Amino acid sequence: MTATAITPAAATPVTGPAPGVPRMLTGDRPTGRLHLGHYAGSLANRIRLHRRYESFFIIADLHMLTTKNSPEDIAQIGRHAADMVLDSLAAGLDPAHSVFYLQSGVPEVAELSLLLSSLVTVPRLQRIPSLKEMGQHAGQREMPLALLGYPVLQAADILAVQAAAVPVGRDNAAHVEVAREMARRFNRRYGPVFTVPALVPADVPVLPGTDGNAKMSKSLGNAIYLSDPPDEVAAKVRRMYTDPARTRAGVPGTVEANPVFVYHDAFNDRPAEVAGLKERYRAGKVGDAEVKEKLTAALNRFLDPIRERRAALAADHGLVEELIVTGTERTRHEVKRTVADMRAAMGLTAALAGFRAAARARAGEPVMHAQTEDVRDRG
Ligand code: TRP
Repeated sequence: MTATAITPAAATPVTGPAPGVPRMLTGDRPTGRLHLGHYAGSLANRIRLHRRYESFFIIADLHMLTTKNSPEDIAQIGRHAADMVLDSLAAGLDPAHSVFYLQSGVPEVAELSLLLSSLVTVPRLQRIPSLKEMGQHAGQREMPLALLGYPVLQAADILAVQAAAVPVGRDNAAHVEVAREMARRFNRRYGPVFTVPALVPADVPVLPGTDGNAKMSKSLGNAIYLSDPPDEVAAKVRRMYTDPARTRAGVPGTVEANPVFVYHDAFNDRPAEVAGLKERYRAGKVGDAEVKEKLTAALNRFLDPIRERRAALAADHGLVEELIVTGTERTRHEVKRTVADMRAAMGLTAALAGFRAAARARAGEPVMHAQTEDVRDRG
């Protein structure tokens, strides 16, 4: 994977607070174990970037509810969240540089989202193509309010932790743009509270599924998981879709967009072997079986250390859970501070503080200063 330059916050001066070490935020909805598509599309990028920042990783269960909210789905959140953190650590995220948190454990984000919702229009959100797609994909004939608000909630996540960098895939780029617009609008209208986040685009093409589908995804059943045992990887590779026009080994084959070779390019650490296989494939001088055997070997070389670390981490019972608990508390503390700053900048604290002072004066108590009241509200 090649290096991605961090896009500066464009022409917008960062008017909000810029803490010592810049923060990064990214994450996923808790839908299950991570697969090679996650690795190629986001995890590799996260691993490469995360030590340069104070890195926050959200387990976005409230976002999951915008399309999946059955009691059965909700009951899986815990297991899926723990699996995802385990996979991320096994793949190379350093827990010393990573704050993992459960979104629903930070209810203040909902308040932030509500306050931000005055800064965006419904047509602006309706024009975001990813939302319509998500709705259709989830079998919704009409747009649920929560789904329309998906980017607003995501903006709340991003602005709540004052993230400077948000590495996400193409489908999330428009949501980060909404967050940037809201941060600028808020800062202009009420004063500099928010860091304007920069989008860090993922530079990797989407990894195809083992069935040749354009995208590897759990719901399509075409994924190889980071936690799949070696024999399962071998079985999945043996069933892999290759060049459909190639009826036998002697027929010259196409390498481009052939998933077997896309995976070789992405994961085989022996480029000379890959170049040789491609040449022979194009000339009709190698069978699919050999290309696949070498791919299985390469994938298992790649996955072996990940599986080993995963087993060791899983044997440390409660470790992942403890990381999520401390990460959620830590994030909640930060978010409470942001919400208090936001309310103060908007002038929302003033009215209640005035009422309290008047009520106290009436009761004959000494009058407190509004400033003290503000600090108190930060909890
Ligand atoms: N929208 C992301 C997804 O596709 C998850 C997410 C929620 C997120 N909040 C975020 C990503 C904040 C980056 C930053 O699952």
